[in-house]
Amino acid sequence: MIPLGRLPGPKGMELDGARFLVAGATGEFGAALARELSEQGCELAVLGRDRERLEGLAGELSATSGRFDARDRAGIEGAVDALAAGLGGLDGVVVAVGAAAFGAGGDLSLETVEDVFAINTLAPIALVSAALPHLPDDGAIVGVTAIVADHPTAGLAAYSASKAAFSAYLAVLRRERRRAGGTVLDVRPPHMDTAFAEHALTGEPPPLPEPVDHLEVVARTIAALREGRRELAWDLESRALVTR
Ligand SMILES: NC(=O)c1ccc[n+]([C@@H]2O[C@H](COP(=O)([O-])OP(=O)(O)OC[C@H]3O[C@@H](n4cnc5c(N)ncnc54)[C@H](OP(=O)(O)O)[C@@H]3O)[C@@H](O)[C@H]2O)c1
Repeated sequence: MIPLGRLPGPKGMELDGARFLVAGATGEFGAALARELSEQGCELAVLGRDRERLEGLAGELSATSGRFDARDRAGIEGAVDALAAGLGGLDGVVVAVGAAAFGAGGDLSLETVEDVFAINTLAPIALVSAALPHLPDDGAIVGVTAIVADHPTAGLAAYSASKAAFSAYLAVLRRERRRAGGTVLDVRPPHMDTAFAEHALTGEPPPLPEPVDHLEVVARTIAALREGRRELAWDLESRALVTR
C-alpha cells in the first residue's frame, strides 16, 4: 500500500519490444543511442536532417525514417504522426538534436540566436509535443540538453540559454506526468568526443576540457531509462557522470 501523501516512485522501463522514436538520429550521439536501443530489442523510427546518414542508419537498424529541419517546424507534427502510426504507437521518444554557436553574447547576430533557439529549444519542444499524443501516460521522454543548462558558459550565451530552456520544459513535463510514473529523462552531457563543436553555426570553440566518451553517456542513458531516472548530469566536483 502506498503511504498517504506519497506518490509512487519512477517505474523504469522494459526496453525489449518498446517502440521508440529517435530525433537527431543522424548525429553521433543520437545514432549511437539508436543503435543501443535497437540492441536492447526496441523497434525504432528515426528522424534526422541529413538524408544519406538517415537512410544508412534506417537500413542498418531496420527502422522507418523521416526527415525534418528544425528551422521548418511546420513539418514536424506530420512526420512524427506518420512514424508513430507506422510503429502502431510509441512507448518512448528521444530528442538528440542540437547545434552550438560560439562567440560572446553581444557578438551573435539575432538571426544566429533565432537559429540556436530553433534547433535547441523550439524544434525539440515541437518534437516532444507531437510525440505526446502517441505515448502512454507512463511512456518515456528523453531530451538531450547539455552541461551548460546547469552551468551557463562564457562564449556560449545563446546555446546555454537555449538548452536551459529545453531543460526547464522537461522538468515541467516531469511534474505534470509524475502521477503516471513515466520517465522524463534530461541527459545533460559534458563535452563529448563527437564532432559537435565542428558543426557549430558560427565561431570557434573556447578551449575545451578532455572529452567524455559519448558511448559511456549512451550506456548511462540506457541504464537511466531502465531505472526511471530523471537526470543524467556531470558532477563538476567528482568529474563524473551522475544519475538522479
Ligand atoms: N558533443 C558534445 O560535446 C555535447 C555536449 C553536450 C550536449 N551535447 C548535445 O548532444 C546532442 C547530440 O550532439 P552530437 O554530439 O551527436 O553532435 P552532432 O553529431 O553534431 O549531432 C547533432 C544533431 O542535431 C541535428 N541538427 C542540427 N541542426 C539541425 C537542424 N537545423 N535541423 C534538424 N536537425 C539538426 C543534426 O542533424 P544532421 O546531422 O542530420 O544535420 C544531428 O542529428 C545535441 O543535442 C548536443 O547539443 C553535445
